[in-house]
Amino acid sequence: MKTISKVSEMRRIVREIKGNGKSISLVPTMGYFHEGHLSLIREASKKCDILIVSIFVNPTQFGPSEDYEHYPRDLGRDELIAEREEVAFIFAPSVSEMYPSSYSTFLEVEGLSKVMCGKSRPAHFRGVTTVVAKLFNLVQPDTAYFGQKDAQQAAIIKKMVSELNMDVEIHICPIVREKDGLAMSSRNAYLNEEERKAALVLYRALLKAKDEIIKGKKDAGEIRKEITEVIEGEKLARIDYIAIVDPENLQEVDNIEQEVLIAVAVWIGKTRLIDNIIARKSTSSMTL
Ligand code: PAJ
Repeated sequence: MKTISKVSEMRRIVREIKGNGKSISLVPTMGYFHEGHLSLIREASKKCDILIVSIFVNPTQFGPSEDYEHYPRDLGRDELIAEREEVAFIFAPSVSEMYPSSYSTFLEVEGLSKVMCGKSRPAHFRGVTTVVAKLFNLVQPDTAYFGQKDAQQAAIIKKMVSELNMDVEIHICPIVREKDGLAMSSRNAYLNEEERKAALVLYRALLKAKDEIIKGKKDAGEIRKEITEVIEGEKLARIDYIAIVDPENLQEVDNIEQEVLIAVAVWIGKTRLIDNIIARKSTSSMTL
């Protein structure tokens, strides 16, 4: 396992790998690995000759008052973890390698970037798509792995790849949770003991909503009301948004007939957490 910090060296290595006819998988991350990241790394390593994991806390996807400065970083620890997995290269460039001082090219998937998280984080997805496109250009992966934890990000990247005819296969891996149900996230490190307990309200609300939908409740307005009640029952929680949407185009659904994505963003104290679940009405009655 080798860590590369220079764009020029990464390019040279990629050229060599491709020249030898080998396939590349990429797992883009911002580091501070947890089991969610590892699930992507393990899945990716099954299918390729060379696995590259990028670690880059991408400044363009953070708003001016967000946690870019405080975002947890520990390259040494991540390197040790990657060493134990089948990672061939970590690509960990500096900010100036990725964005030299005169940098001015950005990429945006319109529409999808402006709903849900895009409302409270207006430039976030423009930063994500820009950095992911740059990483794809540099690493030229045959396949790239993302997590369902960031469902909106996954939908946006799939759309970007399809619409820009990028030659990379996108895999979306399931959400990895702590034993008590909290979705793993680097930002969980911000939570104190009391907040950590309060954070369970996200998954609890999502499970309740999914259960109602399985049982046949179709009115998204009612489901939203129930989610609101569960979350508002937790005094440390403040709702940013609750979305019940089509999983592909992220359009709001009023009447739940098909599979829906239920996604929430909730402030727990000063930490904004996101979580989601896919739900559809049970079809088991049809087989009786
Ligand atoms: P980061 O938050 O580090 O996440 C890297 C990848 O791990 C993303 O695809 C994310 O969806 C996935 N992931 C995070 N938590 C997960 C969990 N609990 N279960 C499964 N997968 C999980 O997402 C980013 O970085 C950045 O936006 C990035 C795509 C790297 C662009 O900068």
